[in-house]
Amino acid sequence: MVRSAVRWAATHGAMRLAIRARARQGNADAEILFDPAVREDPYEHYERLRTDQPFTAGAFARVSVHHAVCTEVLRDHEHFGQIGGNRTEGLPPVLQRALRLAGPRPSIGPIDPPSMLAVDQPEHTRYRRLVSRAFSARAVAHLRERTGQIAAELLDDLEREAGHGRPVDLVARYASLLPVTVISEMLGVPVSMRRQFLAWGDGATPSLDMGLPWSTHRSVERNLGELDAWFRGHLRRLRQHPGEDLLSTLVTSADDDGSELTEQELVATAALVFGAGFETTVNLIGNGAGLLFAHPGQRRLLAEDPSLWPNAVDEVLRLESPVQRTGRRAMRDTTVAGVPVAQGDLVLLVLAAANRDPRVFPDPHVFDVTRPNARDHVAFSSGIHFCLGAALARMEGEVALRALFERFPDLAPAGTGHRRGTIILRGYESLPVTLGRPVPASAPPAEASTGSG
Ligand code: HEM
Repeated sequence: MVRSAVRWAATHGAMRLAIRARARQGNADAEILFDPAVREDPYEHYERLRTDQPFTAGAFARVSVHHAVCTEVLRDHEHFGQIGGNRTEGLPPVLQRALRLAGPRPSIGPIDPPSMLAVDQPEHTRYRRLVSRAFSARAVAHLRERTGQIAAELLDDLEREAGHGRPVDLVARYASLLPVTVISEMLGVPVSMRRQFLAWGDGATPSLDMGLPWSTHRSVERNLGELDAWFRGHLRRLRQHPGEDLLSTLVTSADDDGSELTEQELVATAALVFGAGFETTVNLIGNGAGLLFAHPGQRRLLAEDPSLWPNAVDEVLRLESPVQRTGRRAMRDTTVAGVPVAQGDLVLLVLAAANRDPRVFPDPHVFDVTRPNARDHVAFSSGIHFCLGAALARMEGEVALRALFERFPDLAPAGTGHRRGTIILRGYESLPVTLGRPVPASAPPAEASTGSG
């Protein structure tokens, strides 16, 4: 408890004070980080960061909202690395000392080393190579049919629950359950535990954010601890009784050079792939439903021409990016778009704002499912850390949204949805809907469309 308090005070606590001070001075980035009400609709605030300079002064580091600058930094692995490995760098010496005394958190989080998301080459290449085949476009194409079945089963449950026009929460009953079921089956973790995983995931995802209040920090540490303990036990069981799934392959296979993953590496890889597999796609499905409710004309277009669904999913990712921002640390002195960046400097990249860059996307704030270059977004990042699950997420988003809107053509919001309070992840915590009359079961099911796998 004392160590946890010191860790909080030296990181989130100190940062909270700095962010609050900057927000009071009117810094747009700090206002977004500090105020959940601003985050309800952050986009006009992002526009305040859009100057003709490559970077603007953010809450505690320079920030870019430009597509070209974000892409340049994300692809420059020679000069920029992940922040994860150096999280005490840049802190005042007294806080660094306090953190050293408190020691690291006993459990591993999805953005702590040795998670692949937190490390640079060459470790990154080694971890990613071990799991990438399971997420290739070809592997994902094989999962499409099963994902369609899962969607159909969940929609059956939804229909039973929401009979007689009763409102039902689309996030709790559909958007969250579909991705967690798919990734559980892929990884070979018990699907019967999916509600527990969702609860752990919800408790742990604020760990991506900065400046957390003390109570959230405590809850994050507790949830990460429980998830970590469960994964260690599960991996031990798999080592004794391996199955056909991805995690069994990981625990039993040796790396190219003969050295197997250490226990820490295994847990970090498993927890990242599992958590990333459902904590983000839920937001794609929820955001997609929200956008389609607000734009009946676009919904009509999709009903008339279902081949537009893959592009619609990319347009949702562009306009309401589930991962709003990421960051990198300069590993050596460099320049970006003519601006010098010194070794150790932090650079924050607002992916959600880069996806509304008028130099790349004409009428950037308009939701247009026929937009020719919707897929040019950076919602999945760029460079070596480009989302491992991008093909899976696109396929799940397409199957889930299409099945939902085709089964219930009169689906409508029933009251206001509530957004998650998180900073980096953007999505709905709840989205009450009424289903309306379903299309009769004898109607042909949503067939696979081309392109997005
Ligand atoms: C709509 C859904 C998703 C979005 C928007 C998303 C977004 C992202 C982004 C932005 C990154 C890179 C962050 C950075 O560069 O700092 C990333 C990395 C990653 N994502 Fe996703 N993701 C999604 C779904 C998934 C799914 C379904 C999986 C399944 C396993 C997944 C697994 C990963 C992994 C393992 C990484 C780390 C890759 C690396 O470091 O090489 N993601 N994702």
